[in-house]
Amino acid sequence: MIGIIGGSGIYNIEGARIIKEINISTPFGKPSSPVVIMDIEGREVAFLSRHGRGHIYPPHLVPYRANLWAFREIGVSRVLSLSAVGGINRKLQPGDYVVISDFIDLTKNRKSTFYEGIRSIRVEGEDKPAKLLREGKVVHIDVSEAYCPQMKTVLYKVLEDLNLPFHAEGIYACTEGPRFETPAEIRAIEKLGGDVVGMTGYPEVVLARELTMCYASLCVVANPAAGISGKRLTSQEVIELMKSKDQEIKLLIKRFVSE
Ligand code: HPA
Repeated sequence: MIGIIGGSGIYNIEGARIIKEINISTPFGKPSSPVVIMDIEGREVAFLSRHGRGHIYPPHLVPYRANLWAFREIGVSRVLSLSAVGGINRKLQPGDYVVISDFIDLTKNRKSTFYEGIRSIRVEGEDKPAKLLREGKVVHIDVSEAYCPQMKTVLYKVLEDLNLPFHAEGIYACTEGPRFETPAEIRAIEKLGGDVVGMTGYPEVVLARELTMCYASLCVVANPAAGISGKRLTSQEVIELMKSKDQEIKLLIKRFVSE
């Protein structure tokens, strides 16, 4: 099953028939929202709102581990992440799509692994450790190709078919937030090779990989990053741009799921 994580401005997939809502608890607490199983083009798709209904979780407090664990528990094998980003690379215009090819982690204070060495993970109320992890294991996953090449190819096809402006590659720099970056930080990220900046792409991608799920990230450039346009940034402009993309994103999801 495909699981979709919707970011700012994407709190559900309007018009999709809801099959059921799953309220799931994980060893890492509850996910940001119930997982909604939808029928899209005759296929079952799981949807999760990253910031929760009513946008209650700021980027640094999103229960990333619970979200990915919940997806895995209910049988998701491919995760499509949708999010808004600030554009750093001068080729990027607001409204453009970027298929992420690599990331730079600039977060500071997030649990970014399921593998915590000697600390075993137990499901509340059960004696046995959670199913998917071996107790006490130290694991270093390979992230030389963190984003699923097969899912990326499908995204290229769908974006081309719909004639949407997109960039086939892009390096995602993830900052801690919740504040936006300073212009000096953006200049530094640009020197490091970052094309776009966001606050939620990490650790989501590595957690999905730890649970052996394929993961792809499709970003929408919502604004020029701090200092690039000379204007101040507001979260309202990010949400408004994403809202204006509502129909486009819905169409894109339909096509993606059907491929
Ligand atoms: N910075 C960080 N995260 C973001 C931005 C930004 O400029 N725009 C949308 N998400």
